[in-house]
Amino acid sequence: MKRFFLTLSALLVVAFAALSAPRYDIVPTPKKLTEAPGDFLLSKTVRLVVEDPAFAEVAADFKAQVTLATGFGLQGSGNAIRLVRREGFGKEAYRMRVAPEGVVIEATEVNGAFYALQTLLQLFPAEIYSPVRAKKVRKWAAPCCIIEDEPEFWYRGFLFDSGRFFFPKEEILKFLDLMAMYKQNMFHWHLTEDQGWRIQIDKYPRLTEVGAWRKETAWHSGIGNGIPHGGFYTKDDIREVVEYARKRCITVIPEVEIPGHSTAAIAAYPELGCFPDRHYEVETRWGIWKNLYAPTATTFTFLEDVFTELFELFPSPIYHIGGDEAPKDAYRESRYCQDLMKVLGIDREEELQTFFVKRMGDFLRKHGKTVIGWDEILDGGRLEDPIAMSYRGHAPAARGIRRGIRVVLTPNRWCYLDNKQEDQADNVAQEIFMPLKKVYNYYPAVDSLPDLSKKYIIGYETCLWTEYVPDNATAEYQAYPRNVAAAEVGWTARPNKDWESFRRRMPKILKTLDLKNIGYCPVYHDVIFDYDRRLDFPKPMNLQLDNPEGEVHYTLDGSEPTIRSPRYDGKPFVVDKGSVIKARGFVAGKPIGKTVTKTFAK
Ligand code: ACM
Repeated sequence: MKRFFLTLSALLVVAFAALSAPRYDIVPTPKKLTEAPGDFLLSKTVRLVVEDPAFAEVAADFKAQVTLATGFGLQGSGNAIRLVRREGFGKEAYRMRVAPEGVVIEATEVNGAFYALQTLLQLFPAEIYSPVRAKKVRKWAAPCCIIEDEPEFWYRGFLFDSGRFFFPKEEILKFLDLMAMYKQNMFHWHLTEDQGWRIQIDKYPRLTEVGAWRKETAWHSGIGNGIPHGGFYTKDDIREVVEYARKRCITVIPEVEIPGHSTAAIAAYPELGCFPDRHYEVETRWGIWKNLYAPTATTFTFLEDVFTELFELFPSPIYHIGGDEAPKDAYRESRYCQDLMKVLGIDREEELQTFFVKRMGDFLRKHGKTVIGWDEILDGGRLEDPIAMSYRGHAPAARGIRRGIRVVLTPNRWCYLDNKQEDQADNVAQEIFMPLKKVYNYYPAVDSLPDLSKKYIIGYETCLWTEYVPDNATAEYQAYPRNVAAAEVGWTARPNKDWESFRRRMPKILKTLDLKNIGYCPVYHDVIFDYDRRLDFPKPMNLQLDNPEGEVHYTLDGSEPTIRSPRYDGKPFVVDKGSVIKARGFVAGKPIGKTVTKTFAK
């Protein structure tokens, strides 16, 4: 009897697992997938057929990955994976038929072919991403289907802030790799800051001799740690990054901040600032600083020279000129700026920024570049056909699209990956609570303006600001897995987005991230304490687990939660000062992740 019971429960587990593991766990969800029975099997007889040389490069990279993981050379004489160039598809669109006797991929442009190959990789077991031969996989099967796919938004971005901390080139390449796998296509590289200038410019060597280094870093307390920090990318580094991105259909958009966030450049060349006689140092503290480039001939020549060198490095048709957080104290105080305002016939310092930005915008336009800037660039209203990044919520986006200006949405509460995703005593991330589900459920639109949103909102971008992200490990922890959810936000049409479906795909996503050696935040396994941090006591508290099969057990007496501890019933409960809550997720009676402890001071 006992034996029978065991067998039955084993069967139930198998059935449950089969139910919970989706047959097609593609991320981002394609526009249209028609299921079909059977599998396409990789073997040593399979061959890769590329009929158009335009697709040869992406095909070679696909083949290299497949060969690495499976040992199959894709040069057999049997079933084929065939890449066919056919007119009529959008730039990033493709159609793919996976059948037992072969795979046919059709696309017009290389981007579409590349994305089809990313989708095909995902149809195989996650070990297809293995960096070494995956010997344990018995059967390299891709489930049969027909996929017709194209993205919802053409701008699917990710910002990386190399200004606050310098990150080695290798880490940037790692991020690009992940972006490409999940079909993000715009790498917005924040390269200049008050705390560091990160790019070699031949004509101005002090930018990297002086501007790339600070004497220490001051954290929350404002007290420096005494440890010098710095670094910069050489032109060869940049070329390597841009080429690596190009091969993965990613555009690298450089950002040079004007007129604010410019202390590092002014420390290197004080004549660029409003008070050339003052001494400036590369900033060691975070925040918004008052040093601005002065709108002088010297500064314009400098910036034009810098951009001219960047044109050689970044073929991107879009250039980011910052524009955010530039308090006008220096413009008010500077005699030169006040005189210039009289000459220009303007009476508000804000308009001096407009003049500045317009001047640089015209220069970039003359060189065939579209200017993108933070939402402050909407304030002046004189730039020709810019793109605005709405980061202070949705109001700037609404203003922009009402005026027929293209907008990328980056509202900080949904898009800033330095926000918290869980509660960890040792985590110094920003206070806003932004768990995986919140990132996933975001849709980039101004809800009250659906038609204008459709027309002018061109996409969405997540931003990894790095004030509290000092190293590679923290960068990966903050960015992943949330940036995978973000990739689906940018690609997948609204009716096809489904949090429950995404959660079911999480195990394979995490396995893939493991294989790519990404130190992601294991939120999926840990309990999240969800409460309003602005409220004083008593605090209503929710406990969440990003795992559909899991349940939460918790204790209030400091003991380790077990399966016999109270089970959280999903309803908010109230905690008082002095409470210590320990909570842990359990799946099928077994603990998962780690115990998370939340202590509230008396
Ligand atoms: C920003 O968060 N200042 C763009």
